[in-house]
Amino acid sequence: MDFDTIINRVNTGSNKWAITDQPEHRDVIAMTTADMDFATPKFVRDNLLPTTPILGYSEASQAYFDSIISWQKKYHHLTLTPEQIIPLTGVLPGLSFALRTITKSNDNVLIFDPVYAPFSSAIRNAGRHILNFDLTIDSQDQYYIDFDQLEHVLATQRVPLMILCNPQNPSGHLWTKSDLTKLVDLAKRYNTFIISDEIHEDLVFQPAAFTSLLEIPETDGIGLVISAATKTFNMPGGKNAYMFVKDEYLANQINTLIEAEFANGISTIGFNATTAALSKGEQWHAELIDYLRDNRDTAYKMFTASNIEPMLPQSTYLMWLDFTKTGLSDVVIDEKLINDAKVQLNLGSQYGENGSHWFRLNFATPKQQLVPAIERIITAFA
Ligand SMILES: Cc1ncc(COP(=O)(O)O)c(C=O)c1O
Repeated sequence: MDFDTIINRVNTGSNKWAITDQPEHRDVIAMTTADMDFATPKFVRDNLLPTTPILGYSEASQAYFDSIISWQKKYHHLTLTPEQIIPLTGVLPGLSFALRTITKSNDNVLIFDPVYAPFSSAIRNAGRHILNFDLTIDSQDQYYIDFDQLEHVLATQRVPLMILCNPQNPSGHLWTKSDLTKLVDLAKRYNTFIISDEIHEDLVFQPAAFTSLLEIPETDGIGLVISAATKTFNMPGGKNAYMFVKDEYLANQINTLIEAEFANGISTIGFNATTAALSKGEQWHAELIDYLRDNRDTAYKMFTASNIEPMLPQSTYLMWLDFTKTGLSDVVIDEKLINDAKVQLNLGSQYGENGSHWFRLNFATPKQQLVPAIERIITAFA
């Protein structure tokens, strides 16, 4: 597999590389939005169109469900039936439908700060109340949940829903089986539901291991998972994702809302992309992980020797960088990144207050682009 070729994404309508459409920023290296600078696998691109010459309306086929069911069984030990899988146009629409079904106006929805910014937007847009729970950094330089503190919050306020990001975006941290078991225990005790966004579940670097929320016993009535093959196989523009809901009553309620919003019509191309990726993708996925691991280790080593402090991602292709030691404000760091280093990163404060002084770097790019980008960042802040 070729992950080394640099593909020019300037003026291609890429969301990530849009900054380079501006002539003054033509030479910026974009390391923001979570897609990869690698070619989407050929076995996906070759299978996007229907087998007939008609691009008609589609529905989820048996092959689509089978591809998800066998991938989840093999990689994540989940046993699913087609009835438990709700096809979606994206993880975020799914998140919005689920949270609107599970909660009422003004309900508290707890998120763990810092986290993927659209979680807050989804809660706010639905007229619910965001309850930020700060993650803490442990002696291993990884995030952890202070469960005593979390229990205090759940015991003193009504929290009908918590949204978890596992693997965690922006840090790439993985919540362990023990974390998830504690979370489920608390959810049961305080009558709270858990939505787990597991979109990055296949981008994991051993010995770290991913555990799905649904692997924890007795989660059927208190938790659901939303995921997709789009990050793993670099096809988020295909717009396809899925929700796993084991509770039949809840699945019906969510489906009713999706149908009411006319959001049950899913792109033929998205269905085909997912089916091809999950049924033909094992080898490509294994080689991708090797390449990403090497990029991760290279980036981590380079930053460790600088005054920018990296958190080691156990998964994802995202690296969370602490710029505190530079003594500069977020705005100045952002300007220096673009104007001096000529690299664009995501501002950590977008991910919550806990993210201030941090920036997120996307390392899913050919090594020949990754190394100079990091050298430029380190030099600009030396
Ligand atoms: C944690 C997380 N959830 C959801 C999404 C978006 O998913 P989708 O494009 O399927 O809505 C992303 C994309 O970066 C993500 O990182």
